[in-house]
Amino acid sequence: MTKAKHSRRTFLAMGAGLAGLGLGLSARAQTRAHDADVLVSRGGAIEVDLKARFGPTPLAGQSARLFSYGGRVPGPRIEVRPGDEVTLRFGNALPEPTNLHFHGLHVPPTGNADNVFLEVPAGEGLTYRFKIPESHPAGTFWYHPHLHGLVAKQVFLGMVGLFVVRGELDQVPEVAAAREVFVVLKDFQIAGGRVPPPSPMELARGREGSLVTVNGEVEPEWSVEGGGLLRLRLLNASTARFYRLKLEGHPLYLIATDGGALEEPYELDELLLAPGERAEVLVRADREPGRYTLWNLPYDRGRGGMMGGGMMGGGFGDARPRALAHLVYSGRRRTPLPLPERTGRVRGLGAPVRRRRFVLGHSMQPGRGMVFTINGQVFNPRRIDTRVRLGTVEEWEIANLGVLDHPFHLHTNPFQIVARDGRPERLRAWKDTVLVPAGGTVRLRVGFADYPGNAVYHCHILEHEDLGMMGIVRFETSSGASGT
Ligand code: C2O
Ligand code: CU
Ligand code: CU
Repeated sequence: MTKAKHSRRTFLAMGAGLAGLGLGLSARAQTRAHDADVLVSRGGAIEVDLKARFGPTPLAGQSARLFSYGGRVPGPRIEVRPGDEVTLRFGNALPEPTNLHFHGLHVPPTGNADNVFLEVPAGEGLTYRFKIPESHPAGTFWYHPHLHGLVAKQVFLGMVGLFVVRGELDQVPEVAAAREVFVVLKDFQIAGGRVPPPSPMELARGREGSLVTVNGEVEPEWSVEGGGLLRLRLLNASTARFYRLKLEGHPLYLIATDGGALEEPYELDELLLAPGERAEVLVRADREPGRYTLWNLPYDRGRGGMMGGGMMGGGFGDARPRALAHLVYSGRRRTPLPLPERTGRVRGLGAPVRRRRFVLGHSMQPGRGMVFTINGQVFNPRRIDTRVRLGTVEEWEIANLGVLDHPFHLHTNPFQIVARDGRPERLRAWKDTVLVPAGGTVRLRVGFADYPGNAVYHCHILEHEDLGMMGIVRFETSSGASGT
């Protein structure tokens, strides 16, 4: 790597206190300087122009008629800091309505902020405005459309982008010294230069495409210095495909989940990412120089199934491992970079004032076909399903009585997992999306801090969300001002 110690850019980006660690920093500063697809806030604010488009879009060395943000898949990465004011001028050049959701951000779910009840008609625009709270954790968040009924289609066709909050985790010296690579995992189905419409069975199962891309490419190579550290910032942006990741010859050191940093690195042999989930891992390049493959291992997200394993359950994903990317050693550092000992602080949540149970299921409805339900009901935009008090902590039990796995996602407020199938969770971590396997139960604890108003929870297999597996939660002030 070239010298970073005297790079002004590095100082600006990282703060002078880190310059002593140098080295690894320059790679990132350069990558970012040359990367036109990154929009970084300056002086406490960012203004973004984002246009939803439909048309020929480059993808994995070919061109396909896709939906996108700005003609690129994934869309531009937006990078902010706690306290920033975000102004996002959104234009909809699609032939249909859409809107925007900022997945995982703790910002208001109302007004022109993270409001999934807004609709931007074809040919129109809307300016989104919100402030990232001063106390917002650093993390890997993302944006995508959220107009009920069209979410899966629009995401499947390419509308995804990263929304990164830079903060404390980025300033942990060992983390800052690592080479940073963003990894957007997203599958497509392309035939004759376009995405064919899905079949009803594809929708019910959750659609998976045979073209699996990493940042819109197939099997990219990432170079890493021998003795160096790689920081992979992973997002599963697929509507339904799961990723069971394993890096040949290297354990993964988990340092962050959906909502930001863990307290310390947690060693994993492999990592399962359900749709909507993110993770950050460090990789130590401490093996023989060479080329190592990041594999996607088979994972079956359906169990048994109503038709003896044929129709709804069984047969998902790839039957054999699939290469996603390759890590290539280049050169060697004189002194290897160490792993961090501490990566953050994860405060515990207090005792819950209330417990609730949510049952995930599905059924056949005359005239509608397969529908997906929470507590027996399909989504109704005019029904408030759950009312919670701001300033309280609740414990939610999510039980999956169906034959497919469902990743459960809650907007606005992150949660911590307490137990899975009755077994206490060891890792204390911030999550906003959690896999509830078929037949399984997850208990989580969530604190409702600020921001009154309506938000949603849903399955992040987006076809299931569109087929009804979503509910509305209303955050109310203690005076009960927003309802009973
Ligand atoms: Cu990533 Cu409600 O969604
Ligand atoms: Cu979300
Ligand atoms: Cu689901």
